[in-house]
Amino acid sequence: MAAFKELVFSGVQPTGNLHLGNYLGAIRRFVEMQARDAQCLYCVVDLHAITVWQDPDALRGQIREVTAAFLAAGIDPKRSIVFNQSQVPQHAELAWIFNCVARLGWLNRMTQFKEKAGKDRENASIGLYDYPVLMAADILAYRATHVPVGEDQKQHLELTRDIAQKFNTDFAAAIAAQGHEGGFFPITEPLIGGPAARVMSLRDGTKKMSKSDPSDNSRINLTDDADAIAQKIRRAKTDPEPLPSELPGLKERPEADNLVGIYAALAGRSREDVLREFGGAQFSTFKPALADLAVSSLAPIAAEMRRLSADPGHIEAVLADGAERAEAIAQETLDAVKDIVGFVRRRRA
Ligand code: TYM
Repeated sequence: MAAFKELVFSGVQPTGNLHLGNYLGAIRRFVEMQARDAQCLYCVVDLHAITVWQDPDALRGQIREVTAAFLAAGIDPKRSIVFNQSQVPQHAELAWIFNCVARLGWLNRMTQFKEKAGKDRENASIGLYDYPVLMAADILAYRATHVPVGEDQKQHLELTRDIAQKFNTDFAAAIAAQGHEGGFFPITEPLIGGPAARVMSLRDGTKKMSKSDPSDNSRINLTDDADAIAQKIRRAKTDPEPLPSELPGLKERPEADNLVGIYAALAGRSREDVLREFGGAQFSTFKPALADLAVSSLAPIAAEMRRLSADPGHIEAVLADGAERAEAIAQETLDAVKDIVGFVRRRRA
């Protein structure tokens, strides 16, 4: 296998209502990845957003808002590359080539398409069906080796690996002839883990916390103020039992498990460790402690997002700089891919 340079890529859709699940499952971990000695690229995936209808003015605002959330959470745009997908045309270009590598049967198995399209499948956009192929192009345009995401993206990342593998196999001779040893695309590692890989709804511990849940009380939004955060935690569904002292005691108690997981992730501790402290406590003790922790972690991010959002010019300058740096890497990949596939490409002077 070729030795690929460690490179981290991940994306977030600008579809409104960034919530605690997006933060703990993804954005906060993006910040942690910056400490590694690797280039990180963090992308606002606006091409993915339009796979379902978006109001154009709202979309523009949401692209800036996700960018502001990245920066407010601690992503440093000098160190990492922060950009929006539509400014780097190589993503869509590579997606087309991957459309000719991926198989219909693979996409037919994607559970997220089935959930999102629902019963009215015939009326879903072709973009929604093709969504995971574009995701593979996002990642592989940079030949990314590591992708931090929440658990709901696991199947999409498996598809990315299948596409990379099939491309490497289908074009093995051309890849070797171009001097790339051991395959052109890396087999990307998903980084899914920690106590918040799947944050659940505050109203129903068996449902994922989601942007599209009609109940605003089901999620903590990154833009919520301290009062809203505390109130949503106070009202979160629980059961009447006190917290157990050990992990097996959380089995069959999805709401308790979720709140303990959120506490653990916010505090940078394990669930076991949190139970050692709160085992035997009632929710009337645990919830205020969780609310304090959530407010002290999230309120500064919301305040910084508000401050950054007051200066759209700055946000757009960050995106333009990021796009330029991203494009330089993606273009190199595309040039090589075109040579491998057998296109006659324009030679740059
Ligand atoms: P999106 O915008 O739906 O979600 C962004 C990130 O948040 C994670 N996430 C959660 N994590 C834990 N608990 C939850 N309840 C929760 N809800 C969302 C998601 O797993 C994700 O990491 N398809 C991606 C965007 C994308 C992408 C990519 C990601 C496009 N191209 C390339 C990685 C690499 C998505 O829908 O994200």
